[in-house]
Order: sequence, then structure tokens, then C-alpha cells
Amino acid sequence: MEIVHYPDPTLRRRAAPVEEIGGGLRERVRGMFELMYEAGGVGLAAPQVGWSVQLCVINPTPSERSAELVCVNPLLADPEGSEVAGEGCLSLPEVRGNVGRWRRVRVRWYDLAGHRMEQVAEGLLARIFQHEIDHLEGRLIIDRMTPASRLSVRGALKDLERDYKARSRAGSSAR
Ligand code: CO
Repeated sequence: MEIVHYPDPTLRRRAAPVEEIGGGLRERVRGMFELMYEAGGVGLAAPQVGWSVQLCVINPTPSERSAELVCVNPLLADPEGSEVAGEGCLSLPEVRGNVGRWRRVRVRWYDLAGHRMEQVAEGLLARIFQHEIDHLEGRLIIDRMTPASRLSVRGALKDLERDYKARSRAGSSAR
């Protein structure tokens, strides 16, 4: 398992709902947490590892494993307020910019035991939920950046596009 980078097409697909919470899921989720911690992130969505399902892992305080959240088929409701703040994404290395988000949201999801979960989140956690749920819809931070930030990341995006092309070319000639 590895983190895929922009402009990998998996990142632009709408992920399919998880139909069944089975044993195979647990192992992949563990792998996602490990990748996320290695990369120094606070959230990772399944499409970011090339797996197009509605599932994301979150930990706003990576030093405490007890804060881990696994969200299966998450949904946002009751958005309130708005806030612009800097955001990055493990699928867009070197890309950082200001992104507008709801300040407070209610999130409903299923955990790995199949229990219905619900939480009202604010601030950073609300932002992480929105960022990860965006991934499940095929949406990226560059779609929501302020115009000034979008301009400032143009060079970094071009670099990622070039890297992706080079890697796909290398991949197809190796086969
Ligand atoms: Co991301």
C-alpha cells in the first residue's frame, strides 16, 4: 500500500460506499494509519491509497493512538459558520494554501465494529473531517483554495503533474 499523488485519477473518483464491514477491512485500515503516521498526517482517505471506498482514518493528536477514528461511510450534517485556514494534503506534497471550511459540523459514520457513530466537531477536527470526506467525493484542497492560494500553488501542481507522467511512463515501459 502506498499513498498516491495528484493527478492520480483515483483521487478524482467518487468512492463507493462500504457494503460490508468485514475482516479484510481491519488490516487495510491498520496499514492506512501506519502510512499516515509515517507521512506526518492527521487524516487519510481510502482513495489516497488507491482504494475507492467511502472510508477514512483520522487522528488529530497522532501521539495518542486512543484518539484514532475510523470512519466508514461518513456523512456531514448541520454545517455552521466558516473559517479560512492553511491546509495541506498527503496526496499533494509541497502544496499548501488557505482553504475555507465550515467551522462546525455534525458527522455521522460507522466504526469498524459496525456501530453508528455521531460527533459534533469544531475547529481542526471539523476541518479534518471535511477534508477527508471531500476525498471520498473526489474533491481536493485545490478545488476549495482561495484564489490567491490557488495561484501560489500553480508551480507545485505542474511539478506533480510532471512527476506523475514520468512515473507512469517508467511503469509502462517496465511492464
Ligand atoms: Co488529503
